Amino acid sequence: MAIVLAIETSCDETAVAIVNNRHVCSSVVASQIPLHQRYGGVVPEVASRQHLETVNGTIAQALADSGMQWSDLDGIAATCAPGLVGALLVGLTAAKTLALLKQKPFIGVHHLEGHIYASYLVDPQLEPPFLCLLVSGGHTSFIHVQDCGCYKTLGQTRDDAAGEAFDKVARLLNLGYPGGPEIDRLAAQGDPTAFPLPEGQISLPEGGYHPYDTSFSGLKTAVLRLVQKLQQQGGELPVADISASFQATVARSLTRRAIACALDYRLKTIAVGGGVAANRGLRQHLQTAAAKHNLRVIFPPIHLCTDNAAMIGCAAADHLERGHTSPLTLGAQSRLAIGDVMQLYSLA
Ligand code: KG4
Ligand code: ZN
Repeated sequence: MAIVLAIETSCDETAVAIVNNRHVCSSVVASQIPLHQRYGGVVPEVASRQHLETVNGTIAQALADSGMQWSDLDGIAATCAPGLVGALLVGLTAAKTLALLKQKPFIGVHHLEGHIYASYLVDPQLEPPFLCLLVSGGHTSFIHVQDCGCYKTLGQTRDDAAGEAFDKVARLLNLGYPGGPEIDRLAAQGDPTAFPLPEGQISLPEGGYHPYDTSFSGLKTAVLRLVQKLQQQGGELPVADISASFQATVARSLTRRAIACALDYRLKTIAVGGGVAANRGLRQHLQTAAAKHNLRVIFPPIHLCTDNAAMIGCAAADHLERGHTSPLTLGAQSRLAIGDVMQLYSLA
């Protein structure tokens, strides 16, 4: 059993949690969304400064909520890659300083491995192998989870991430930031068959299409053209129908690929993670398709889909149990493939 305090500051949430293996003792998320809303997206410099303001109070809050003392902790963890370097540095430096001060092991965590571990918090009995469909503002990945630290990316986006596509289309429709929840809300009132839109496929040099990779830039352009055409025709833009049609197209594209990965690699469970996992269209499409193929789908509750430190702590606790710790010289990395996570650890 390992009890870990984890810090997550890779983007626009300052989050701290205390996790006992696959059980959350406390989890605090200080969101910066209202701060970035006026710019229509995350401003990296603003994010780092805000993390700096918030991180100490968030750590104190998480510790108080858990009812634990520093002496109860077995390790201190932080997200170290991938993400905004300035933002990552705040949580990473706080964690390394605490590890040194309190004489605890330090564990650096890959943000995407954290999203995978959210499903272990939902189902502590879950064991690899399984497929993780990771859909966030920065990633769209189909990951074959083989063991702790052992991942194979089967497919990913070639351009925009799923969440990025939601945010960009929302901007086209003059909706607020972040756009995903707004499109989700409007789609519930619209007709998903109102406007046929292209799903986007990656051609292979030998002919045919890549079975698992996605592309959303063509879909985004198709929505732009549609909006321009409708605006020329005059009248009010049918925002609900456009949202519903766009959402259904993304949901179909992700579902088709996730099911293909699961069947081809004989994986019985699909664990979904990342902010877009909150999307009701995706939930419905994927559940229906998975049921037809006798596959199990895990959709974590929304607070575990979006960025949080509980998932980071859960991943860190597993690494710590296996004797994986990180050197205090570990730096922040804006990019790091999930297949390379073991670079972060030295074996105790
Ligand atoms: O995982 P996350 O909180 O942060 C990243 O690591 O990126 O994901 C944020 C993304 C945003 O693009 C947001 O628009 C999207 O998740 N999102 C949604 C929904 N809720 C959040 N997209 C579609 N439907 C939603 N309900
Ligand atoms: Zn994330």
